[in-house]
Amino acid sequence: MSAVVVVGAQWGDEGKGKVTDFLAQKADVVVRHQGGANAGHTVVVGDRTFKLHLIPSGILYPDKLSVIANGVVVDPAILSEELDYLTREGIDVGGLRVSTQAHVVMPYHKLMDALQEGRLGDRKIGTTLRGIGPAYMDKAARTGIRMAELLDADRLRQRVREQVAEKNRLLAMYGGEPLDADRITDEYAAYGERLRPFLANTARLINDALDHDQNVLFEGAQGTLLDIDHGTYPYVTSSHPVAGGACIGAGVGPTRIDQVYGVLKAYTSRVGDGPFPTELTDAIGDDIRERGHEYGTTTGRPRRVGWLDGAALRQAARVNGMTGVVVTRLDVLDALPELKIAVGYQLPDGTVTTDFPDGAEALAQVRPVYETLPGWRTPTTDARRLEDLPPEARDYLDRIAEVTGVPVVMVSVGAERTRTITTRPLF
Ligand code: IMP
Repeated sequence: MSAVVVVGAQWGDEGKGKVTDFLAQKADVVVRHQGGANAGHTVVVGDRTFKLHLIPSGILYPDKLSVIANGVVVDPAILSEELDYLTREGIDVGGLRVSTQAHVVMPYHKLMDALQEGRLGDRKIGTTLRGIGPAYMDKAARTGIRMAELLDADRLRQRVREQVAEKNRLLAMYGGEPLDADRITDEYAAYGERLRPFLANTARLINDALDHDQNVLFEGAQGTLLDIDHGTYPYVTSSHPVAGGACIGAGVGPTRIDQVYGVLKAYTSRVGDGPFPTELTDAIGDDIRERGHEYGTTTGRPRRVGWLDGAALRQAARVNGMTGVVVTRLDVLDALPELKIAVGYQLPDGTVTTDFPDGAEALAQVRPVYETLPGWRTPTTDARRLEDLPPEARDYLDRIAEVTGVPVVMVSVGAERTRTITTRPLF
C-alpha cells in the first residue's frame, strides 16, 4: 500500500487537478480532505475537459472510490449540481463517498462571506465568496451543521431555526435581509435525501483501504501559502492546505503517509488580494497570463502572475515535508528569452534573507533578489522524457530542485494526461 499526498506549493492553481488525475490512474481511493467549492480543478481527458469544484478527480475513473472527507466544507447545492453534470457527461458517480462528519456550507455562510468582504473594503481578502470562511468559523465555534444532520428533517429544522435566529441578528448588523429558516430546512433536507446514498464514515473507509494494501491519493486544494497557519495570513483560506491537513481532514495518522508531492507552476500565480513579491505587472506578466490562460476556474478572475519565488518554495518544502516536486506548465515559458527566480529577499534594513517572512505585513515589505537564467525558446509540449527537453529547460528544473532541496519527480508540459514526464515511479 501507499499513501501519497499532493499539495499546492504556491497560492493554489498550480495544476493539481492534472497531477492528481495522472496519479489517480494508480490509486484505488482518491480523497479531498480540506477546503470546499472554492477550489476549481480542471482535468483534461482526451478531447474532453472536466471542471470540478468538490468531487475528487478520481471520479473520472470507473473503478475507484472518490471520497469527500470530514475536513471539507460541503455545499450540497454545488455537490448536487456536480453530480448532475458528471451524470450528463456519462460518468458513473457510484464511487463517491461523502463524510457524515463534513460540515455543511449553509446559505447564511455565503451571505456572511460577501458582507464581511464588503465591510473590509480595500483590506478585503478577495475570497471566492463560496462561504468557506464562515463555514469553518461555525465549525470552530462548535455550532456548525454536519452532513449527517441533513438526514433527519425534524432535527435539522430545530438546528436551522437556532442558527438562523442567530445569523439574522448578525445579518441585521451588516445591513442584510433576514433569512427564512423553514425554507432553508426544506431545501437542505431535500439535499440530504439526494445525498443519503453517498454518506459514509470515510475515515474508516480510508484506513480500511490502507490496511488492505490499497493506494490512497490525497488531493490537496488551494496551496501552502493560503494555509491558515503557514500562509500569508490574513490573506489565506480558512483550512489547512498543507500536507498535515490530509491527516486531520481525512482521519489518517501521519505515520501512514509515504510521499508528499508539492506541485508548483514553473512561474507563480495568485488570485485574490495580498502581497506577492515576484509579481509581474508588465508585458511579460501579460504574456504569461495569456499563454497560461490564467483566469480563475471558480470565479473567472484574471490571476496575478510573477516569477518563481524560491524563498516561498523552500517554506513550502519545509512545512509540507515534501519528498518530490512536480513542476507544471513548463511549456508556458517556452517563448521567453530569459527567466528569473527569486533566491531570497532584501528586507527594509538592507539585509538579505532566504527565509520566508511570517505573515502578509512582513512579506509586503521585502524586495526579491533575483537570479537570471537563459530561456530555451523551443516548444517543450512533445517532450516525454527529461532528455527530450532543451538543456536550458533542464537547467531550470535543476535549479528548482536545488532551491527547494527536493528532487523533481514529474514535469507537466501540457494539459492532457499524456503531456507528462516522470523521473521515477510515483506510487
Ligand atoms: P476563500 O477560500 O474563498 O475564503 O478565499 C480566501 C483566499 O484563498 C482568496 O485569496 C482566494 O482567492 C484564495 N483561494 C481559495 N480557493 C482557491 C483556489 O482553489 N485557488 C486559488 N486561490 C484560492
